[in-house]
Amino acid sequence: MKESSESQQAVPLDFLGDLRRTHSCGDLRVSGAGSRALLMGWVHRRRDLGGVIFIHLRDRDGVTQIVFHADGEAKVHEKAELLRAEYVVAVEGTVRKRSPETINANIPTGEVELVAEKLWILNESRTPPFPMEETVDVSEDARLKYRYVDLRRPRMQRNIMLRSQVSFATREFLYSQGFLEIETPFLTRSTPEGARDYLVPSRNQQGCFYALPQSPQLFKQLLMVSGFEKYFQIVRCFRDEDLRADRQPEFTQIDIEMSFPQQVTVFEAIEPLLQRICAVAGYQIEIPFQRLTYAEAMRRYGVDKPDLRLPPFCPVEDLFPNAGLTAEGLPLVAIRIPKTGALTRKERDELKAYGAERGLRVYDDVKRLERDYPEQLAAVRERTGASEDDLLLIAGWPGAPKGQRPDENVYMACGQLRLFAGQKYNDRHKLLNPKDFRFLWVVDFPMFEWDEEENRWNAAHHPFTSVHDEDLEKLTTDPAHCRAKSYDVVLNGVELGSGSIRIHRRDVQSKVFEALGFSEEEARRRFGFLLEGLEYGAPPHGGIALGLDRLVMILAGENSIREVIPFPKTARGTDLMCDAPSAVPERQLRELGISLRKK
Ligand code: AMO
Repeated sequence: MKESSESQQAVPLDFLGDLRRTHSCGDLRVSGAGSRALLMGWVHRRRDLGGVIFIHLRDRDGVTQIVFHADGEAKVHEKAELLRAEYVVAVEGTVRKRSPETINANIPTGEVELVAEKLWILNESRTPPFPMEETVDVSEDARLKYRYVDLRRPRMQRNIMLRSQVSFATREFLYSQGFLEIETPFLTRSTPEGARDYLVPSRNQQGCFYALPQSPQLFKQLLMVSGFEKYFQIVRCFRDEDLRADRQPEFTQIDIEMSFPQQVTVFEAIEPLLQRICAVAGYQIEIPFQRLTYAEAMRRYGVDKPDLRLPPFCPVEDLFPNAGLTAEGLPLVAIRIPKTGALTRKERDELKAYGAERGLRVYDDVKRLERDYPEQLAAVRERTGASEDDLLLIAGWPGAPKGQRPDENVYMACGQLRLFAGQKYNDRHKLLNPKDFRFLWVVDFPMFEWDEEENRWNAAHHPFTSVHDEDLEKLTTDPAHCRAKSYDVVLNGVELGSGSIRIHRRDVQSKVFEALGFSEEEARRRFGFLLEGLEYGAPPHGGIALGLDRLVMILAGENSIREVIPFPKTARGTDLMCDAPSAVPERQLRELGISLRKK
């Protein structure tokens, strides 16, 4: 067999002329045997057996085997010898049924092949920077630098197609529910979503800058003031923030706003939308979703985006009223991780160390507890429903000053321990099935969170979120206990979307700005257009934004949103393919009235 890496000779290229394909590379089946077909695509693989050359021809629909016989059309076989990986060709020939022993059961077209009679080489290709096979591990930097090649690989083709189908299903569903797709500007003012803005200098008004929107929040609210009632947009948002696997500097939201909604009206719009989207990806999900208040989520999971595939923790404080255990720390919650089997000493020590780093005492040695506190342990077992095969951890709070209640941070530490143990032993036992979709609404977030650095309150969601009617009075007197009419939709521990019922009254909006420490003048300077808009008959309104990238990531079974974004940035915010951001010529800066300070 000749290797396909043999030295290359000049390849005469053919014109496309008026050639048209008759089928895609995924189309042909036995029923078409004997008929003629003209396919176009890329040379996926090539095997030269001397008298016969096989290529796998690939397009976005699939792969078809093409056969070039030396004793067939002589010129065609000769020409096929020139083919290399990723050459772009057109082939015409006759569809032939393969003999049983040569059937390729791995591809849908595997029962047939195309016997080539004509070959057109439409373009050649340099040797690809990495093979197309999914099984080959390629560094992410190489993949991102040659993204156009990487995107040809089957996994990326599947992901990007799924993304397109999700966008289409979203549009189709929302149109059917009376939503209007309306665009909002990219060159705008700063929108407050808590990140830094990307700024764009203005040439006509030197010294002034547009900000790219962190979300269309204010515009969608103004569209409600304008009377459109049901808005949506699949929209790019820009945030200059620290990047992670589920964060990109530019990302896409399914952004939605409605007039006159109750919170549940938003839920009733979103649940069937997500059901439809999941169906597109081949998953049936149940609606309505479970709901938890923020306070419950913190108490039972120690996190505001619980992964429901693991059980909640159980409070056990009451079971150890005077036990000696309390000397070592107040036993707070029991954490059950199902079906882990016995842990080694080393694993138990690791869990203990993990807890200790977060200020927790982890009682992990069930045998010892059984001996010293048999009754309590029996009660813990009953409460958690733990079986012999489950890992049962009791997390205690050694720092407990007498009579003091543990605060949210202690529960958050318990939540981290729960996830750490769950994920760790998931690796071993596949407990966290990525296809087990557990949606959840978390509601009633606090309105404000305390900013230690700035020594003031910040809006937990954003400053346009309503407070609960009965908490309105507390806005200025007791901000810590104001609950917001805000909600998150969470899927398997990932915050998928976030929204709220908005403030539609100018006087209430002013009060919230006051609580946030904005002077009237500053509020007017930053959001004057919204405040004014609220004075012209703003209806009650509310909405939500879903992270499209995160949703597709989960549906595609990926761990990073970079895998579902065609041209993503690296963790440092760089586009390796087009080398952005980049320096710009001095002339361009001059036109913008910008001079750079030397570092
Ligand atoms: P929020 O800021 O919570 O709310 O964003 C909504 C959803 O957008 C996704 N998301 C991101 N995805 C990828 N990379 C990022 N950097 C990133 N940041 C956010 C998340 C998140 O849940 N205007 C409000 C929505 C509203 O109130 O209607 C907003 O943008 O999935």
